[in-house]
Amino acid sequence: MSKRVVTLAHYYTAPEIQQMADKVGDSLELSLYARDANADVIVFAGVRFMAETAKILNPQAEVILPDAGSTCSLVTQTDVKRLKAWRDKHADHVHVSYINSSAEHKALSDWIVTSRNVDDIIAHLYAQGQKVIFSPDRNMGAYLNYQYGYDMPLWSAVCEVHDKFNETALNEGMAAVAGPSYLIAHPESPLPVLKRADYVGSTSGMLNWVKQFDREPDATLFVATEDGILYNMGLARPDLKIVQAPIYAGCQCNQCPYMKLNNVERVQRAQAGEGTRIDYLSHEQMDAARLPIERMLAFSE
Ligand code: 13P
Ligand code: SF4
Repeated sequence: MSKRVVTLAHYYTAPEIQQMADKVGDSLELSLYARDANADVIVFAGVRFMAETAKILNPQAEVILPDAGSTCSLVTQTDVKRLKAWRDKHADHVHVSYINSSAEHKALSDWIVTSRNVDDIIAHLYAQGQKVIFSPDRNMGAYLNYQYGYDMPLWSAVCEVHDKFNETALNEGMAAVAGPSYLIAHPESPLPVLKRADYVGSTSGMLNWVKQFDREPDATLFVATEDGILYNMGLARPDLKIVQAPIYAGCQCNQCPYMKLNNVERVQRAQAGEGTRIDYLSHEQMDAARLPIERMLAFSE
């Protein structure tokens, strides 16, 4: 009997990859879809931490990452031994970790969050009178501290793509367009960029903002995130002028090198059973990492 293969793709993959997928979405949507998928094989056209999360939530399925190199700088910049020492130093704090983290990292966390639910989960913990530490994304943590007046100690890793956005290039780029302009940004961007954004949110949050845009029809919408999602925004609102936020003059380089390792040939090979199998996590590691993820899913559903 042939195997049931389900293909998932993140918004940051190229249009031709998204077109090969059964489901396209943000980190939270893809985690839920993977958990509930009635599949023998899940091909995850995204990055490794996403494929690991799928395996943790659906351990019966074989999970395949099309390219072994699809990591994330938030993972590679985090040394787990140092992270454990940092967490132990703050033993009286709740450790909230962004889903862009390794399985080992998740196992050292009390809660996992995605960019979609991070605001609500941290507000819930503060409302309970808890003290919170946040890892690994320094920019996201700095934004939460600024926006809500928190005092969370932060781990210091960044997304190498979003961290390149800067106020100077944005000011120049936005001043150069005629007519009104707006900025929407992913919370992995640096604080000065987020402070001047008209909307800050997850990939699906930004997409919804664009779908519902009803202000000046001649406005230019600048998008400070990976360029893959401009495809989805263009499909949803072909009537709008949607452009990538400039990084520096003449450079439109906001592409995630790890997401872009998912090409048609590699995804086809993964669908045929070749690629990097997520089969190296022990049951103990998966059980420990599942607890904080399930806490998040129970909160979000
Ligand atoms: P989302 O959860 O918003 O889809 O973000 C994932 C990601 O890797 C952003 O860089
Ligand atoms: Fe990681 Fe940044 Fe790529 Fe997202 S865009 S997967 S955070 S390196």
